[in-house]
Amino acid sequence: MALVADRLTPALGAELTGFDPHSTFDTEEIDELHAQLMEHHVLFIRDCDLAPVKMAELGAALGTLGARHHSYVTHPDSDDVVILEWKGDDLPDAAEWHSDMTYRDTPPFASILKAVIVPPAGGDTLWASMFSVYDSLPSGMKDDLAGLEAVHDMGAFRTPAYRGGGNSGILDAYSSAGTAVHPMVAHHPISGRPYLNVSESFTRFVIGLSAPEAGRLLTELFDRINRPEHHVRLRWKPNTLALWDNRGTQHYAVVDYLPHLRQLHRVAVVHDARESR
Ligand code: SIN
Repeated sequence: MALVADRLTPALGAELTGFDPHSTFDTEEIDELHAQLMEHHVLFIRDCDLAPVKMAELGAALGTLGARHHSYVTHPDSDDVVILEWKGDDLPDAAEWHSDMTYRDTPPFASILKAVIVPPAGGDTLWASMFSVYDSLPSGMKDDLAGLEAVHDMGAFRTPAYRGGGNSGILDAYSSAGTAVHPMVAHHPISGRPYLNVSESFTRFVIGLSAPEAGRLLTELFDRINRPEHHVRLRWKPNTLALWDNRGTQHYAVVDYLPHLRQLHRVAVVHDARESR
């Protein structure tokens, strides 16, 4: 495909040209795309008119599809594509730093997101490099975090669960969304680089600490993720596609566009087919 990447910030992100959305996604092409993803962590491709079925094909070429979301609706043309749509006075749920679905034992390794309808202004998405955040921690803090594990759960998805079904609505949502314990510092399975693995959306508690200690530690880490030196920001246009590695990045969808409509399609890829090569 002869892909060309234009790096956007020292922390992460590149605009990619040369990607053909009508390709058959053969192994060599996807190897090249994957290599770009490993280098830049998040890729932005403009004018990428990928139909839902083709988006799922791209995901399947990268790895195993799955990790269907517990609450988003799927596209009529493909069960592997969820529709993210916000307008009016809906309260979007992605305006918090997070990596997708870490409340699962095996969260998706990659996500593919394509803009379908964008508001006249705003509705940008930011990504943060958790490698960069980890690298910036004082060495004493790195030592403190080594070996610690934290509990991840569905966070603010409790609100629709409660409004829809009270206490049992929350319990049902817990049982379908799940909850998982992950190391607070993880290592990328391909590069081996350490990254900070907690998010303000989904990380609730640190195993072995008291609730106040866990709260203080997490708040300090979340503040560090907010620093713009770790970020890249995307202004969407219709048919802009973002592909990111969830291992070592988080993202934040800015809610500044309501009551205008913003609609995107998303595919989650659970296992990285190139991880064990
Ligand atoms: C997401 O959290 O995957 C959605 C991000 C966005 O709406 O920009």
